[in-house]
Amino acid sequence: MTKNSLWLQAALIASGLVIGGAGNAAADGLVGDPVKGQEVYERCEGCHSLDANRVGPKHRGRIGRKAGGVEDYDYSDALKSSGIVWDEVTLDRWLQGPGKLVPGTKMGFILKDPKARADVIAFLKRESAK
Ligand code: HEC
Repeated sequence: MTKNSLWLQAALIASGLVIGGAGNAAADGLVGDPVKGQEVYERCEGCHSLDANRVGPKHRGRIGRKAGGVEDYDYSDALKSSGIVWDEVTLDRWLQGPGKLVPGTKMGFILKDPKARADVIAFLKRESAK
């Protein structure tokens, strides 16, 4: 690894921490509503569904698991080797900018509204447990 790419990695990690600190839904005291989150989830459904792989991997059962864990889905190497475990905090950061959290990921969708993020995460948590 070159000196430059090390520096870049350090900068990305630093900016990631800033994002996590400033815009973290849980830290802002937002309580997600899974019923509203089901509506928000319609915006994910262009690429995802709960039980079938589409452009993106199926979602059910992912909370509490490692990123890149759906066996019959062709992930980017970046996400597969990220070491992330999906929970409220990592999902909130992911939805604020997948490419910032995991440079090189194939997901290019951002959900700017913190309440919408909290809601959709609550929905995913509810469905994931079924
Ligand atoms: C334009 C298409 C698109 C949209 C819209 C989209 N995603 Fe994704 N998503 C992807 C792709 C592609 C991947 C796989 C990324 C990779 O392999 O790097 C992914 C991966 C993910 C993962 C990682 C899953 C795993 O198994 O590790 C999560 C979580 C996720 N998306 C959540 C969401 C949520 C929640 C929404 C809606 C708010 C959403 N995505 C909207 C394309 C999309």
